Amino acid sequence: MGSYVPPRRVTNHDLEQILDTSDEWIRTRTGIVERRVVNEGVVTSDLALAAAKAALADAGLGPADLDLIVVATGSPDMLWPSTACVLQGKLGAGCPAFDVSAACSGFVYGMSLVEGLVAAGQYETVLLVGADALSRHLNWNDRSTCVLFGDGAGAVVIRRVDGEGDMLGSVLRADGRDADILKIPAGGNAIPPSTESVEAHLHYITMNGREVFKFAVRTTCAIVEEVLGRANVALDEVTYVLFHQANQRICDAAAEGLGLPKERVPGNIDKYGNTSTASIPLLVDELYRAGSLEAGNIIVTVGFGAGLTWGANVVRWSKGGHG
Ligand code: UT7
Repeated sequence: MGSYVPPRRVTNHDLEQILDTSDEWIRTRTGIVERRVVNEGVVTSDLALAAAKAALADAGLGPADLDLIVVATGSPDMLWPSTACVLQGKLGAGCPAFDVSAACSGFVYGMSLVEGLVAAGQYETVLLVGADALSRHLNWNDRSTCVLFGDGAGAVVIRRVDGEGDMLGSVLRADGRDADILKIPAGGNAIPPSTESVEAHLHYITMNGREVFKFAVRTTCAIVEEVLGRANVALDEVTYVLFHQANQRICDAAAEGLGLPKERVPGNIDKYGNTSTASIPLLVDELYRAGSLEAGNIIVTVGFGAGLTWGANVVRWSKGGHG
C-alpha cells in the first residue's frame, strides 16, 4: 500500500477569510478541520504517481513488474488519454492501463474489478490507484461544496498469493436516475466548453447535499449487511468498517445503525476532507502504517458517490504492521 497527500494545508480558518463560513459550521456539520490542496500545475496523475511509487516500494516491486494499471478517478488530468495511461508513462511501466469512473465509489469498484481479473488469471500483478484533485473542479465561491473536498491519492498492488490475503466478497450498485444530484455538468459532450458554460459555472461540482446525505445514510448500512452475507462473514468477525470519508455525520449514523463502536469505524476526514476515490486507500494506508492492521484482520470498505454509485468489499488482510 501507499498513499500521498499534497503538502499544502487549507484549514477551516483559512476558508473563513475568503467565504461566508465558519470553522464551527464546517466542523459540526462535516467533521472536517483541514484539507490538502494541490498547488497550481499539480494534476491528478502527479498525486497518483507519488502514491504508486510508495505502494511499489512497500511491495518490493518496480514498474516493470506491473501487468496492468487501473486508476479510479473522478478528476482525470483530461478527458483522454486516461489518467492511468499518463501515470503509466510517468512511472515508466510498459503494461496496459485504463481508468475507472465511478466517482467516490471508484476505489471500491476498482478493487472488485481488479480482484476479478486477477482471480481469472488474466493479470498477475496489478496496480490500483484512487486519485483525485477535486480542488481543481470546485467553485471556491460556493460554500456549500468547496469546504467539503480535498486532494490525495492511495494505491495498492494486488497479486494472487497463496496465504492469508483475500477478497471475501463484493457488492457494487448504481442508480443513474439520480445522476443529477451530484455532478460536474459541463466539459463532456452534453455541455461542451463554451464562454457560456464557463460564465454559468457549469464546470464545477454541483450537489444537492441533503439528498446525497440521505442516500448515503440509507445505503451504507444495508450494503455492509449485504456484502457480509455474501462473504459469509459475521459483523463480529470484522475488525474495521471503513466508510468513504464524505461526512463524519454519515459515518456516525452508519456506525450507529450497525451497532458498531467508534473504535471499529476509524476515520480521518478531520485531516483530509472528502478526497473522493482516495479516501478509502488513504485510510487503509494510515491504519497499516500505524500498525493497526494485523494479518488475518477482516475489513469492510464502503464507497458511495456520484452516479449514484455505491459498493462494499470484504477483505482479509495478509500483512502485519508496516513493512
Ligand atoms: O462523496 C459524496 C459527496 N458528497 C457528500 O457526501 C455530501 C453529503 N451531504 C452533506 O455532507 C451535507 O448535506 C452538507 C455538509 C453538504 C450540508 O449539511 P446540511 O446539514 O445538509 O446543511 P444544508 O445544506 O441543509 O444547509 C444548512 C444551512 C443553509 O443555510 P439556511 O438556508 O438554513 O439559512 C446553508 O446555506 O447551512 C448553510 N451552509 C453553510 N453555512 C456556513 C451551507 N454551507 C455552509 C458553509 N458555511 N460552508
